[in-house]
Amino acid sequence: MAYIEWNEDLSVGVDLFNEDHKRLFEYINRLHQGMVTGLGTSSMTDILNGLVDYTMTHFDNEERMMIQHTYAGYEAHKKEHDTLVARVADFQTQLNSGRGSFSLALMGFLKDWLINHIMGTDLKYKDFFLEKGVK
Ligand SMILES: [Fe+2]
Repeated sequence: MAYIEWNEDLSVGVDLFNEDHKRLFEYINRLHQGMVTGLGTSSMTDILNGLVDYTMTHFDNEERMMIQHTYAGYEAHKKEHDTLVARVADFQTQLNSGRGSFSLALMGFLKDWLINHIMGTDLKYKDFFLEKGVK
């Protein structure tokens, strides 16, 4: 069974963003799987870098759509994205300098990081984009 699974409760109503979120879940599942099976640090780092890159692409996608439709919550949402990226980048730096390690605590952090953001912040734009006809 996957470590985290996407379900309809997490749907933000926009197909592209749901697909992005599913892909981010996959990265976290791959990291978790790698940790459980003892995958080497360099492969784990590659997966983490992939997760960070894709997260930034996804955040850009959301932010572009918010700007395009003049979403009132844009500033606050963007701030949260920036904080999330900074926290993961922090971890990346620790890892690259040999001070961090892949742990269950990190998996828990990534899982909460993504799920709390989707449930707490992304879902706020669901009705807005629905009204704008964004699918
Ligand atoms: Fe977001």
